[in-house]
Amino acid sequence: MTERTLAIIKPDAVARGVSGKIIARIEAEGFAIRAMRRVALSKKDAEGFYAVHRERPFFGSLTAFMSSGPAIALVLEAPEAVKKWRQLMGATDPAKADPGTLRKEFAESIERNATHGSDAPETAAYEIGYFFAGMELN
Ligand code: RTP
Ligand code: MG
Repeated sequence: MTERTLAIIKPDAVARGVSGKIIARIEAEGFAIRAMRRVALSKKDAEGFYAVHRERPFFGSLTAFMSSGPAIALVLEAPEAVKKWRQLMGATDPAKADPGTLRKEFAESIERNATHGSDAPETAAYEIGYFFAGMELN
């Protein structure tokens, strides 16, 4: 069954000019891009998006990083898109990411790790709505 997930190319990857390579990989792996937009998150936007992590020690640093420069938000569609995109991203910590994954290739550190992906279909629905209005999805 086809499914959608929210992906973000994070500010580290956009700043390094590798967003095109990541988008090429998304297409090569068979995802349909149903929406895509450059976004400049404020600190508050980032805090809202990552609210589930607000008690974590890295919350302040993470939200500062995510609001440090432009990012690219995308809605990806594929069968089992949530799982498939997380597999393509690889482990949160690039040191633990498998060869061939985006984080292995593009992440700088456990925080500056190039991409985001929703962690469940329910989370994906919330996260897609955080960035995109219904009219922008087709
Ligand atoms: P994401 O939500 O961004 O797709 O990443 P994830 O599921 O693989 O990891 P999660 O546990 O949800 O953490 C969210 C983001 O917080 C940063 N982080 N820093 N310093 C640290 O120990 C640490 N741990 C996580 C990363 O940017 C991670 O992607
Ligand atoms: Mg997560």
